[in-house]
Amino acid sequence: MSFKKELARRRTFAIIAHPDAGKTTLTEKLLLFGGAIQTAGAVKSNKIKKTATSDFMEIEKQRGISVATSVMTFDYKNLKINILDTPGHKDFAEDTYRTLTAVDSVVLVIDCVKGVEEQTEKLMEVCRMRDTPVMIFVNKMDREGKDPFTLLDELEEKLDIRVRPITWPVNGGRNFKGVYHLLESKMNFFAVNKTKLESDIFEIDIDSPVLDEKVGERDAKQLRNDVELINGVYDEFDREAYLAGQLAPVFFGSAVSNFGVMELLNGFVNVSPQPISRETNKRVVEPTEDKFSGFVFKIHANIDPRHRDRIAFLRICSGTFERGKFYNNTRLDKKLRFSNPYMFMADAKEVVDEGYPGDVVGLYDTGNFKIGDTLTEGEDLQFTGIPSFSPELFREVINKDPMKSKQLEKGIQQLSEEGVAQLFLMQPGNRKVIGTVGELQFEVIQHRLLNEYGASCAYEAKSFTKAVWITSKDPEKLADFIRLKNNAIGYDKDENPVFFAETDWILRMNQDNNPDITFHKTSEFKVKQKG
Ligand code: G4P
Repeated sequence: MSFKKELARRRTFAIIAHPDAGKTTLTEKLLLFGGAIQTAGAVKSNKIKKTATSDFMEIEKQRGISVATSVMTFDYKNLKINILDTPGHKDFAEDTYRTLTAVDSVVLVIDCVKGVEEQTEKLMEVCRMRDTPVMIFVNKMDREGKDPFTLLDELEEKLDIRVRPITWPVNGGRNFKGVYHLLESKMNFFAVNKTKLESDIFEIDIDSPVLDEKVGERDAKQLRNDVELINGVYDEFDREAYLAGQLAPVFFGSAVSNFGVMELLNGFVNVSPQPISRETNKRVVEPTEDKFSGFVFKIHANIDPRHRDRIAFLRICSGTFERGKFYNNTRLDKKLRFSNPYMFMADAKEVVDEGYPGDVVGLYDTGNFKIGDTLTEGEDLQFTGIPSFSPELFREVINKDPMKSKQLEKGIQQLSEEGVAQLFLMQPGNRKVIGTVGELQFEVIQHRLLNEYGASCAYEAKSFTKAVWITSKDPEKLADFIRLKNNAIGYDKDENPVFFAETDWILRMNQDNNPDITFHKTSEFKVKQKG
């Protein structure tokens, strides 16, 4: 197959959701459709249950599982679909944010009972930063949930995006009768425990008495009213607006019953984008370019602590990636060659000879990679848009074993390169402060430092809740601010100054009092910022 055809058939996306909305279940059903797995239950949930925060075995298991399910690939209607998995636990949200930099679109799962939840809003903020196209699946329609019109309003209001229903539910909960496809005028009737993949779908004229026969007069009337209202209130589905990240098509269903999923998948196949262009510090890279380029968005330590090697996940952005060829890590200006790059098939992985834009390859790494690193055939450029986000919890690392300070240093350095946490240095004394978005990460770090590096550490709590990068057009003003706020200043891994604040109020006050200083919530301040 030609390069152009390979490119045109790639679709790379992530499913995002507040924990428990049904992300794992939906992923599994999509894989069933794609024939990548044969039975339900093959996809393990990679979330750590709430009760297990101190259970390290669970943490290890979680890490293992998330390698296996990091990317799931399947063929459907001649497309090659890559689903990039994101951790289910909110404490690993930063991992999710980074994964979102490597996809071309997302499917957002909403629980119809709960509506838009906290994590949903945060995830959508990240999508909006780069105008990622979003498709919405309203799940659990077999449960008594919110009224679908109310849900649509809530989506628009809280997620700041226009929506356009594509399928529409007839009732919900115990009386859920199915979904009506608004664009194709087809009715898919719900049946409890429907296990068939292809369900019986009827083309139905909404005004026909057959509809009354099938769903009953009352529900038929309601559906007709709803459809009239939808057509009156919502504009026609506009693919360009969807691709620009401004309009989200909405599907209703029940993932656990495998219902409404096919409509979602077909809708996705029809409109989702093929690999898109990406910005670098020098120019925009088009996927159609001959020369290979890609970036690392995730690094995973080997689960076996005796082996230090890691797996770097590389998203291919342009050209063809070839096994055994030398590529340049542009940060280090170092030529690297990968003899066993692999790709992932549901729960298995296999060595591949080549990969195309949109694909993700796993590369064995002996310590050459940092998150955000770019590989090219030689051109000196660096992909942008793989930001660090402002962490919310901070602790100073205290070395408990002076004999092991080197190991501790190395361990912390490597773990921060993997993106497990962000490391900041504070003066005096080069004190190490780590920032995370969740408590669980501190436990993971402590555990891994001991098990993989033989270094034991304790933490001293810091009362900061915000870390923002600071810049100024006037270097003197910046230097003054840093001098004045010395106790609340740290430096990130690239030696950018960061201001720590105890509260939002303190942050705002400093912003107001220092108009010459710009405060950035992500490290992406060198790239154009939106929203
Ligand atoms: P997550 O990855 O987004 O965290 O969610 P996951 O798929 O694990 O689903 C969370 C729970 O919601 C699971 O129940 C799952 O079975 C249930 N669920 C998913 N889709 C639907 C749906 O369409 N309808 C209903 N009623 N439930 C749904 P659980 O009890 O936590 O786990 P399990 O024992 O059922 O696996």
